[in-house]
Amino acid sequence: MAKQLRIGMIGYGFMGRAHSNAYKRLNDFFPVEHRPVLKVACARSEEKAKAFAENWGYERIETDWRKVVASPDVDVIDICSPNDTHYDIALTAARNKKMILCEKPLAMNVRQAEEMARAVEEAGVPNMVWFNYRRVPSIALAKQIVDEGRIGQPFHYRATYLQDWTISPDVPQGGAALWRLDVDVAGSGVTGDLLAHSIDTAMWLNGGIARVVAQTRTFVTERVHAVTGQVQPVGIDDACMFLAEFANGSMGTFESTRYARGRKNFNTFELNGADGSVYFDLEEPEYLQFFEYKQLQSGKKLESHLTGWRKIHSTNSEHPYMKHYWVPGTCIGYEHTFLNALADFVEGIETGKPAQPDFRNALETQRVCDAVLESARSGQWVETGVGL
Ligand SMILES: NC(=O)c1ccc[n+]([C@@H]2O[C@H](COP(=O)([O-])OP(=O)(O)OC[C@H]3O[C@@H](n4cnc5c(N)ncnc54)[C@H](O)[C@@H]3O)[C@@H](O)[C@H]2O)c1
Repeated sequence: MAKQLRIGMIGYGFMGRAHSNAYKRLNDFFPVEHRPVLKVACARSEEKAKAFAENWGYERIETDWRKVVASPDVDVIDICSPNDTHYDIALTAARNKKMILCEKPLAMNVRQAEEMARAVEEAGVPNMVWFNYRRVPSIALAKQIVDEGRIGQPFHYRATYLQDWTISPDVPQGGAALWRLDVDVAGSGVTGDLLAHSIDTAMWLNGGIARVVAQTRTFVTERVHAVTGQVQPVGIDDACMFLAEFANGSMGTFESTRYARGRKNFNTFELNGADGSVYFDLEEPEYLQFFEYKQLQSGKKLESHLTGWRKIHSTNSEHPYMKHYWVPGTCIGYEHTFLNALADFVEGIETGKPAQPDFRNALETQRVCDAVLESARSGQWVETGVGL
């Protein structure tokens, strides 16, 4: 009989829905022993929590996360609430020996993230941070290509993460979804929200980032606060660009903004090495582009008129995660990245090989984010301390 994995979900917003979908579909696609049970949904508004619980099939609701974290009938605490809540919920959940799945960014700052990593380790509870882009099959294929040594000595890493939804000064700060513009709730702007993803992917593919120099900009400096109704200063970074030096000696550029008119969730990266390059664009997530120089050279004769980038449609059953879905040539979507992440987490529990990124690993991304913000303030290169 399947072992139960009883879920306590904190937050019913964007990620609350994405994760609930993953819990419901896990056993339809992945042959794992555990079966998620949607036990409790928690949000501060009883009415909204009820509507969410009914829609997704949660057994009951709570309006105080402390009750969920203390519930004996809950095995996993899933933190899908804004960034300023992650620390308290995770620390209490670890104390209560719950498994913890936490949304990114792990914390508001390195100090919190260090404590959170220590807490889950001391409690000995399985934990993971939802850096779901690692679970896009094409990005996981890029990782496989790097690990197979097909890129060779890396020289350049280039990441962009662009959106355009905060250009109007009429967009308020604070409240549902717009908490992202309130520095006291979000911790930072695009750095923690968008670049955290780019940094996690970059360090997964290309190793640690040793030092950074950054510039941030806040284009709209005052906005009405949705909670207080007052015009208040904006404390987040609307845009951030930074240069990075990886521990392996390669150079990186990272750019993120919410002011790139026309760009909705434009997330790309390219890695260039001596033997090859990979390029990914989230607007065509089923494709990974790959240029393989090494293999061209090893042929008897280099047919240079036929060289070029390969656009790999990452939908064969040999591609990461794809054997669990449909036939080659058919695609999966954004929601499956959460399903794939959950499957990895559950497999980790069952095999004893914990899924990554766990809190300790996500702490490294937090270190880079904090170093980026510090550099933007000081105008100096800042050592990240990653890997210490
Ligand atoms: N992995 C990703 O790609 C990704 C995408 C979006 C958001 N996120 C992260 O997920 C988290 C949530 O973001 P979202 O987009 O779902 O936000 P959201 O605004 O859509 O939802 C947040 C939810 O948290 C609830 N909430 C707020 N404070 C609470 C509290 N004290 N107790 C209980 N519930 C509370 C709100 O009622 C709401 O249901 C953030 O940390 C965000 O950075 C990750």
